[in-house]
Amino acid sequence: MSNPYAPVPMRVEKSVTETEDGSIRTISLTFPDGTAPFGFVPGQFAELSILGVGEAPFGIASSPMSPDMLDFTIARVGTVTTELHYLEPGESVGLRGPLGNGYPVEGLSGRDLLVIGGGFGFSTLRAFTNYALHPGNRGNFGGITVVYGARNPGLLLYRDDLCDWAARDDMNLVVTVDRADEGWTGMTGTVPAAVEKVKGVKSVLGGRAALVCGPPAMIRYTLPVLADLGLAPADIFLSLEMKMKCGIGKCGRCGIGGSYACTDGPVYSLERLRGLPGEFR
Ligand SMILES: Cc1cc2nc3c(=O)[nH]c(=O)nc-3n(C[C@H](O)[C@H](O)[C@H](O)COP(=O)(O)OP(=O)(O)OC[C@H]3O[C@@H](n4cnc5c(N)ncnc54)[C@H](O)[C@@H]3O)c2cc1C
Ligand code: FES
Repeated sequence: MSNPYAPVPMRVEKSVTETEDGSIRTISLTFPDGTAPFGFVPGQFAELSILGVGEAPFGIASSPMSPDMLDFTIARVGTVTTELHYLEPGESVGLRGPLGNGYPVEGLSGRDLLVIGGGFGFSTLRAFTNYALHPGNRGNFGGITVVYGARNPGLLLYRDDLCDWAARDDMNLVVTVDRADEGWTGMTGTVPAAVEKVKGVKSVLGGRAALVCGPPAMIRYTLPVLADLGLAPADIFLSLEMKMKCGIGKCGRCGIGGSYACTDGPVYSLERLRGLPGEFR
């Protein structure tokens, strides 16, 4: 029987600074024999570990359509994340995963989608968006509108993806910053205010759904806008960032009511969350 606590030793291929202040980096990891031994769905996460330092959970930021190299976008906030920022190409990092449930890609099939993210919470939504835009999958979804925000232009992630998505005619991309700087020519304002504006581009193909991940304040102010747009709680999916330890439903650290966010989540419908204790009721 394989040990669920034993990490796979991954090789660091790339480490890229995402933000002007250097606080967020994306590392790209490959498997020991070059090929992924598992598939995953967007929205799942993994535990990354450095020997003698510790282990922490991170959303998988790359698309399941490129499973052999996994991206993780890491905000430097403490011990493990700082060490992950220091990793250089060729070095090794442990990985346990994929963990959690991910976004309900099958249930989203045929629907118009609003993808709403802020901060590093956008990482798994980037994975979802690139998955949905893949030529083999694009036909499975209706209209796709991505609303992404950062506090300022220097904190925007995934600039290559944003350029690619902006050039496509099969999706809408809305990027907003809370505070503009001199060179910024795009939208200014919060994510909930930007979602309010996309009312104009809503289409009515096959029933809509929203995928939301970001800071709690962003989520709290976005939910009433989604209700105004007519989305039911069962059509709104939130990815939570509870404190986690084991990631496999053993330690109880991530409990909300009768649910463990590491196994039942981290993605919950708002309808399900409203049946649990917590802040999105
Ligand atoms: C499912 C999931 C997905 C996540 N995805 C990402 C991601 O894609 N990118 C990213 O940068 N971060 C992500 N996080 C948060 C990340 O796990 C924490 O930032 C990390 O555990 C901090 O570890 P540390 O040792 O650097 O910090 P510590 O030295 O342990 O603590 C520093 C600070 O971080 C807070 N913190 C510690 N552990 C957690 C935790 N598990 N969750 C939230 N805050 C914590 C502490 O309260 C403290 O304020 C995710 C968390 C979860 C549960
Ligand atoms: S992190 Fe241990 S039960 Fe969820």
